[in-house]
Amino acid sequence: MAPLQSDSSRDHTLAIGIDFGTTNSVVACARASAGVDLVDFATPDGPAAVFRSALCFWADDAHRGALASAAGPWAIAEFLDFPGGSRFLQSFKSVAANPAFEHANLFEKRLKFEELGRIFLRHLVAHGGAALAELPDRIVVGRPVRYVGARPDPALARTRYDAMFASLGRPVHYVYEPLGAAFSFAARLTEPATLLVADFGGGTSDFSIVRVAAPGAPRRCTPLGAAGIGIAGDQFDFRIMDKLVLPLLGKGGTYRSFDKVLEIPPGHFADFGDWSRLALMRNRRTLEQLAKLQHSATDPAAIGRMIAVVENELGHGLYEAVGRLKRALSSDTHAQFQFAGDGLTIAVDVARTDFERWIAPDLDRIAETVDAALADAGLAPDHIDHVFLTGGSSLIPAVRDLFTRRFGDARIACGDELTSIAHGLALIGQSPDLDEWTAPAA
Ligand SMILES: Nc1ncnc2c1ncn2[C@@H]1O[C@H](COP(=O)(O)OP(=O)(O)OP(=O)(O)O)[C@@H](O)[C@H]1O
Ligand SMILES: [Mg+2]
Repeated sequence: MAPLQSDSSRDHTLAIGIDFGTTNSVVACARASAGVDLVDFATPDGPAAVFRSALCFWADDAHRGALASAAGPWAIAEFLDFPGGSRFLQSFKSVAANPAFEHANLFEKRLKFEELGRIFLRHLVAHGGAALAELPDRIVVGRPVRYVGARPDPALARTRYDAMFASLGRPVHYVYEPLGAAFSFAARLTEPATLLVADFGGGTSDFSIVRVAAPGAPRRCTPLGAAGIGIAGDQFDFRIMDKLVLPLLGKGGTYRSFDKVLEIPPGHFADFGDWSRLALMRNRRTLEQLAKLQHSATDPAAIGRMIAVVENELGHGLYEAVGRLKRALSSDTHAQFQFAGDGLTIAVDVARTDFERWIAPDLDRIAETVDAALADAGLAPDHIDHVFLTGGSSLIPAVRDLFTRRFGDARIACGDELTSIAHGLALIGQSPDLDEWTAPAA
């Protein structure tokens, strides 16, 4: 996008919308001329509107005891260059509301959520270049309707978000993420309508029901109800890991203990489901335990593959391969899971129906949450005129099917899967009644 003009009276930025996502972050600027532009971030592959919500840390050689860091696609590049000497963090938004998460252990340093967040924002703003060099007074930040976790604490998440976004030095307004998407979609509508927005991201699936007035009405959107659940793309990735990859690394196998044959305790594989622990598995205790297990295992080669994953830090690469398989199965009914790393090569054919079976319990819980959103609004499916599917995980055919079954194809719209929320948050930032859109503090 064009740099900010010094003649700020003409087309200066009035507001920015920040969609800080579990997987991807996107920023949009609302202009005085009423237009909204997505910020293009500098990436190793050229400008891009989508910036991965990832961080990489390593020991800063120039300053003893200090950490150097990179974010987004730069974090991935640094980690791939030097996997043994760096720590890669992704999906850190998913611990925002988790009281059990105190800090990430990074070499000798411990960083709290808000410290990770501030580092991420500093890099995000810097890679946004001129577009984010001067921030406006209206900053609208999205928040999920419901945070990830068994017992998420939204008040804690709010405190942590406040501490993270304070670093921007401007007042911040929080708005439910699906309301951003509703605003963005409303810009396409020419008639009054009742809209269900379903946003399937990396961490959460959020639903919002909104009444949209005719264009030009003093108040364009009125929220009627909402619901959310902390099950989305990361959980689907974990299902692939758990059902396809971990059995190849020994999960579900057996070992000999004296004269008994016992199942390998699943606890050995628990760290694969937790990003903050996965990076820390390469420690002497874990490796000693695995070596002992390999000795007594019925299939020692499988545990050998597990040891290769831990020793050679292949976890990140495995998750990337899982993500590639998942995305391929959105467009094809069959795809190959492929991974090649030090000590581990996997090539397995997977059918879309396998994936759908693995995520079936998650889809059931998501469907219940759609019902909860309708109940919150006091509406039946017949009352919904349009369903807007957005977020990267809405590209999964089985996710879309949940809606075609309930609402029929004709009422379903999609598009701008990764950018609609930031776009809508910036539009909300322009609205005179911004405060009315603000999400409750807890
Ligand atoms: N073609 C595809 N098929 C299936 N999943 C996809 C596809 N493209 C992206 N995804 C998934 O979408 C998710 C990212 O979507 P999105 O950017 O909307 O999430 P987010 O905003 O970062 O997360 P959240 O809103 O939960 O905080 C990831 O889990 C990614 O694997
Ligand atoms: Mg999102």
